[in-house]
Amino acid sequence: MDPENKVFLLLLLLFHVLLVAAQTSTQDFTALSSLSEFWENKPPSWVGADPCGSGWEGIHCTNSRVTSIILSSMNIGGRLSGDIQSLSELVTLELSYNKDMTGTIPDEIGNLTKLQTLILVGCGFSGSIPDSIGSLKQLSFLALNLNQFTGNIPRTLGNLSSIDWLDLADNQIEGTIPVSDDQGPGLDMLLTAQHFHLGNNKLIGEIPAQLFSSNMKLKHLLLDNNQLNGSIPGTLGVVTSLEVVRLDRNQISGEVPSNISDLINLSELYLSNNKLTGSLPDLTGLNDLTYVDLSNNTFNSAGIPSWASSLPLLTTLKLENTGVEGQIPVSIFNQSNIESVEMRNNQLNGTLDIGNDYSSHLDLIDLENNKITDFDQKNSNIDITVKLEGNNICLETGATSESYCQDSESTVSYSTPANSCTPLVCSSDQVSSPNCKCAFPYTGVLSSRALGFSNLGNTTYYTLIEQSLMTTFQSQNLPVDSVSLSNPFRNSTTDYFQLDLSIFPSQNDRFNRTGVSSIAFVLSNQIYVPPEFFTPYFFNGNNYENYAGESSSKKSHTGIIVGAVVAVVAFLVLSILAGIYAIRQKKRAKKAKDFNPFANWEENKNSGSAPKLKGARWFSFEELKKYSSNFSESNTIGSGGYGKVYQGVLPSGELVAIKRAAKESMQGAVEFKTEIELLSRVHHKNLVGLVGFCFDKGEQMLVYEYIPNGTVMDSLSGKSGIRMDWMRRLKVAAGAARGLAYLHELADPPIIHRDIKSSNILLDDHLNAKVSDFGLSKLLDSDTGHITTQVKGTMGYLDPEYYMTQQLTEKSDVYSFGVLMMELVTGRRPIEQGKFIVREVVRAMDKSKELYNLQAILDSAITKQNTPKGLEKFVDLALKCVKEHAAERPAMAEVVKEIENIMELAGLNPISESATTSATYEDASGRHPYGDDDFAYTGVFPTVKLEPH
Ligand SMILES: *[C@@H]1O[C@H](CO)[C@@H](O)[C@H](O)[C@H]1NC(C)=O
Ligand SMILES: *[C@@H]1O[C@H](CO)[C@@H](O)[C@H](O)[C@H]1NC(C)=O
Ligand SMILES: *[C@@H]1O[C@H](CO)[C@@H](O)[C@H](O)[C@H]1NC(C)=O
Ligand SMILES: *[C@@H]1O[C@H](CO)[C@@H](O)[C@H](O)[C@H]1NC(C)=O
Ligand SMILES: *[C@@H]1O[C@H](CO)[C@@H](O)[C@H](O)[C@H]1NC(C)=O
Repeated sequence: MDPENKVFLLLLLLFHVLLVAAQTSTQDFTALSSLSEFWENKPPSWVGADPCGSGWEGIHCTNSRVTSIILSSMNIGGRLSGDIQSLSELVTLELSYNKDMTGTIPDEIGNLTKLQTLILVGCGFSGSIPDSIGSLKQLSFLALNLNQFTGNIPRTLGNLSSIDWLDLADNQIEGTIPVSDDQGPGLDMLLTAQHFHLGNNKLIGEIPAQLFSSNMKLKHLLLDNNQLNGSIPGTLGVVTSLEVVRLDRNQISGEVPSNISDLINLSELYLSNNKLTGSLPDLTGLNDLTYVDLSNNTFNSAGIPSWASSLPLLTTLKLENTGVEGQIPVSIFNQSNIESVEMRNNQLNGTLDIGNDYSSHLDLIDLENNKITDFDQKNSNIDITVKLEGNNICLETGATSESYCQDSESTVSYSTPANSCTPLVCSSDQVSSPNCKCAFPYTGVLSSRALGFSNLGNTTYYTLIEQSLMTTFQSQNLPVDSVSLSNPFRNSTTDYFQLDLSIFPSQNDRFNRTGVSSIAFVLSNQIYVPPEFFTPYFFNGNNYENYAGESSSKKSHTGIIVGAVVAVVAFLVLSILAGIYAIRQKKRAKKAKDFNPFANWEENKNSGSAPKLKGARWFSFEELKKYSSNFSESNTIGSGGYGKVYQGVLPSGELVAIKRAAKESMQGAVEFKTEIELLSRVHHKNLVGLVGFCFDKGEQMLVYEYIPNGTVMDSLSGKSGIRMDWMRRLKVAAGAARGLAYLHELADPPIIHRDIKSSNILLDDHLNAKVSDFGLSKLLDSDTGHITTQVKGTMGYLDPEYYMTQQLTEKSDVYSFGVLMMELVTGRRPIEQGKFIVREVVRAMDKSKELYNLQAILDSAITKQNTPKGLEKFVDLALKCVKEHAAERPAMAEVVKEIENIMELAGLNPISESATTSATYEDASGRHPYGDDDFAYTGVFPTVKLEPH
């Protein structure tokens, strides 16, 4: 932690001690604060200084100590810092499904000696699993699957003497499976473990014989999809508790040890895609077997073994490419549960006879590429898929047209049907639930690592999964209305069975954070126990973008220590903005994709509701094309998320900027119309004026007056070559403030800009400030149907209170304006190298000194020649604008007045226009400023305040 953060934490602490009769230990509050300093998008309820007492989401406490952190699917980004070690009473740490959680697991995790459950499924963690995890003597549940871990399995895991569930699957873990020796411990010591899930990694070497012993309790041994070689150790046969064995998709050779037939509890055996030799294993007596796959090995040729016809629960027999030959016994098809017999690429011959007593569950017989000469039931109308392509029977002319000679890929589809109701057509992001309510489901992929059946078309299985899920959610009192499964398939790489799962909320149309994380925890922590045929499973949750109740604004305490308060504000702003920004970008991308406005527009056009415009004119596509030289590269003066901006020349000689929407960012016709109607009514010399628009040939364009001298941001950075002395900065501030005051107080209806920033203030040829881009698109979001807007704005300028409450007021613009003022005095971006400008100014400030002791932080361009007169008052005003509480911020009209006072103090006539003219500034360097993504002319919709002013 850098010293600056330490100071900050100290302040927070002081704050905490002075003001709160907290229920949280100081140590834990400090730990959580510093932990979340490395996070983006932490839950909005994480404010104040009392995590246990004021209900920080995901935090659970016992006697003022944090004992559990459950933040699954919270869309948190960032890394897990070593500060976690201070939460010394922590029992459960669950951060699953936060895809943007990256970095390594810190070594300090080993200090959490009380930890029993550590679940980091489906995040972006990487690096080696730290040896220190082996110090967690109480750990019983360790799930690190679905990340990008590399390195070896630490042999220290052998010290986890309480472990039950060990899941490291779906990573890129290398090396051999460690067992204990004189170098240290190994996995053979984990006698309490029931689950070794190590599949889909890069493990090499042999499966150590020492790994297995008769005093183990192991139920699931998953080593599939690795690069293991050597043979299957005979010791495997002594672990009679085993129910699922997956060794498939490795390079295992040698014979299958004969004592595999001692595994009397075995229900699923996957040995396929190895290099096994010798005879097919004898599975006689393994009467719990449901699924056997021995395919793609190099066993000796032999007839079909007798056990293949005598396993009472067998649903699936896969002996593809295993060297079996001779006639297929009819008894195979009589086994009462058999669904699928798959024996492609063998030497089976004679007649295929499935008899008359075949199982009612029989669904597929795949015998392609054998030597079968006849099919007994070929003329009867059986409801079984039979595949005989590549057999003698199909190679003879005459039979080739039979369906059993066609190599048809059967695809199954399933989707939970509506529950005796009519599904609704919902607005874009919402989905009609099985109970026919439009809602935002929490979604993810539910996978079985060892499916016990093969007839994916039998809907009974899905119904059983749905019912068991609902039973679990209900017994856990979770706010779930219904679940829906869809898109079942076997992943051909891993042979895992995947299903899309959507979980619908029972309260309102969306979940809150606690709802989602509790549901995710039930799935990640295996509280949900599915039907036997689906175990073992894992879930991979998606981000949930539609949290309810985000407006929970906790009262925070102000007024004791100004420094602390400002620090708190600055800290909150800093840490949330990154998250907001990320969401906003994501949403933008997503929304843009869903839009298809033209159908609407066409309707509108025919119904004759043409825009009511004041002054703005309509342009045809052809006209604008001509004025911009075919939208040529050389006329391009900017591009961004919205589309491109072209310079154009009207026949009158007037220069214009033509903002042409990209296809994916076009808006609905109604919204577009509303927008141009509004923009056409706004006229002020400090606002960029709308000249006209184009709504033609599937295009949406806005034509603005051309503002030649680029953005304030460019001027401050020196990019545009305009020297910005103190006087010019004051003038810019005054101009922008007047434009904004007009939007707030004189426009009808009032307009809240929502995105005041230096790149949205343009300079005309008299260096008058012109506010552009009136407001971020609120309507773009309104397809979700909420009037409470999602928080919009730009990182660094965003009003923290607006973020907390989602209540948008003019004071949010005042806040952004305050940040802009800070930019004007410092010449720095609001957030530079992780430092927030407001916080930096406050830190450096000493009111007893000249220029408030800010010389080091002020832009040298304003201090170079003369002392900037009125600078202190300017800083005072800026600080008022960025007050935490909107109510304490001045209105824009007051800001205008105060800046005018400062101008007079500095010797400028605030009314006169002549302070700076085009003749007195160095000309722009030729580079045009509309270059970067979020520059001027990028957003288009004004935000209209609905209540009368
Ligand atoms: C905490 O963990 C670190 C790194 O593993 C270790 O160096 C340190 O000694 C531990 N501290 C305690 C109190 O266990
Ligand atoms: C056997 O190997 C072939 C060729 O690689 C592959 O297409 C097939 O899916 C494998 N069969 C099984 C059951 O894994
Ligand atoms: C079928 O194959 C078996 C074993 O390869 C062989 O002994 C037998 O003669 C074959 N039967 C026919 C009818 O070709
Ligand atoms: C579907 O599976 C269930 C459960 O195993 C079974 O009872 C039912 O008979 C199966 N239906 C068909 C058509 O195979
Ligand atoms: C299949 O599994 C692999 C490995 O886990 C994964 O990368 C891939 O995305 C899966 N395929 C699908 C379609 O989900």
